[in-house]
Amino acid sequence: MEKENVIEIKNLTAGFDGRTVLENISLEIKRNEIFVILGSSGGGKTTLLKHIIGLLKPEKGSISVFGKEILNMEIDEFEGILKRIGMLFQGGALLNSMAVWENIAIPLEQHTQLENEVISNIVKQKLSLVNLEDAYYMLPSELSGGMKKRVSLARAIAMDPEILFFDEPSAGLDPITSSDLDELILDLKKKLGITLVIVTHELESIKRIADRIIYLQKGKNIFCGTIEEAKISHIEEIDRFFGWDKD
Ligand SMILES: Nc1ncnc2c1ncn2[C@@H]1O[C@H](COP(=O)(O)OP(=O)(O)OP(=O)(O)O)[C@@H](O)[C@H]1O
Ligand SMILES: [Mg+2]
Repeated sequence: MEKENVIEIKNLTAGFDGRTVLENISLEIKRNEIFVILGSSGGGKTTLLKHIIGLLKPEKGSISVFGKEILNMEIDEFEGILKRIGMLFQGGALLNSMAVWENIAIPLEQHTQLENEVISNIVKQKLSLVNLEDAYYMLPSELSGGMKKRVSLARAIAMDPEILFFDEPSAGLDPITSSDLDELILDLKKKLGITLVIVTHELESIKRIADRIIYLQKGKNIFCGTIEEAKISHIEEIDRFFGWDKD
């Protein structure tokens, strides 16, 4: 059976102050896939994510999440959608004055009326999912870069999102830490059935995790499909990006 689309974008055109940054983008993201957004710096990747989560409004087009058009949606209804998605922004920071557990508890305190003990149990469960049980009482300043990423990930999944948006997960991480993070991402897909929408530049990571990719070149969708399909499409910029022009 074909998996349902959790996100559908049609003819999205968007920009800032009259300058077009995304041009006529259409795409579909299926439940439980890892969808990777690629493209050179300034290509519009982060801008695309911000439109999907309703932080920015497009000039034209439609965006539907969980089968519902989000543009012009009532705020209450949109909040219902936001509760079902998690996000980790580029450079998304932890609050340094708060312990790890408090950072992870923030969304639970904001969006639920759960008792402290329940929240504490959820925090522990999420920390164990990212293999950081021992960091519960630590401060962000006591963590390595890879540990901070994992705590941010635990915070982003605190509310059990169905879709997780992740902008540059491996930025600033060494190859081993980055490959551990990929394992974790694959684990979240498998164990929790999450749909992941990930922006990354890391070739190794893309090859390990991506079910499908989209390649944005100056705001245009020049390819969308699997890596195998990308390879036989012989698009110059994509061949160069993956190093296939040297094969
Ligand atoms: N808030 C903003 N106001 C004006 N222009 C913006 C804003 N945010 C992004 N832009 C512009 O939109 C274009 C796309 O930016 P975006 O951040 O989406 O790129 P990106 O593909 O995520 O790049 P990177 O790989 O460097 O993160 C850039 O030219 C950028 O200058
Ligand atoms: Mg970006």
